[in-house]
Amino acid sequence: MELSDALTSTPATRTFTDRPVDDATLYAILDDARFAPSGGNRQGWRVVVVKDPVTRRALRDAYLPGWYEYLAMTTEGMTPFASTNAPDDEAAAIARAADFASLGAANPGFAEHLDEVPALLVILADLTCLATVDRDLDRVGLAGGASIYPFVWSILLGARQRGLGGVMTTMAVRAEAQVLSLIDAPPDTAVAAVVALGEPTEQISRLRRAPVEQFTTIDRMDGEGLAPA
Ligand SMILES: Cc1cc2nc3c(=O)[nH]c(=O)nc-3n(C[C@H](O)[C@H](O)[C@H](O)COP(=O)(O)O)c2cc1C
Repeated sequence: MELSDALTSTPATRTFTDRPVDDATLYAILDDARFAPSGGNRQGWRVVVVKDPVTRRALRDAYLPGWYEYLAMTTEGMTPFASTNAPDDEAAAIARAADFASLGAANPGFAEHLDEVPALLVILADLTCLATVDRDLDRVGLAGGASIYPFVWSILLGARQRGLGGVMTTMAVRAEAQVLSLIDAPPDTAVAAVVALGEPTEQISRLRRAPVEQFTTIDRMDGEGLAPA
């Protein structure tokens, strides 16, 4: 597959056939993904492949509360968990999360079935390896994740290359302590993502993304948009 095709047509896949993903395939995907860049080439990612059904269910249970809060905030037109949200607005939206939990119980989807996906990977960060160059700024940290998420995206691209699909999820980060204890993580470890992988049930659809000129300007952020050739 052409790199450009892969980059422009790899969706978030959340429905999978029952076909298992074997360890050899997972190994091969990770063997490619390990070439992702990281700050100072410290390669601070760690991966736990969760196979045990009890741990998988506990992971799903750690994921769900954040998911229902996300749905509650989305329904209110908010960007869920944006650091710029007004705390009162967020609290008011989150107060309705229980309604979404009831809806989810009645109509289970990807989140409620997270424990059943063919492959489930917890992606962790060894904090001693992360160059968090923005750690002293008066805003949420961003730069540390840049040493981990290219690796996660490479996992998804590598899965695609092998006929698989998947999705990067972050809701379980809301319950980080719970997740870390489930997998016996050492101190100074953070949860970066939980990745589900498997054989997609659906064909790839066209991805909806904003055009370049909508987010790229010349010289200044209020400058002229970068035009296509
Ligand atoms: C940082 C990040 C966090 C995400 N967290 C979740 C999540 O917790 N649950 C989920 O179902 N999808 C999650 N996604 C998937 C996004 O919803 C998805 O990439 C986006 O909607 C685009 O989907 P598409 O590629 O199918 O168009 C996450 C994606 C990223 C990059």
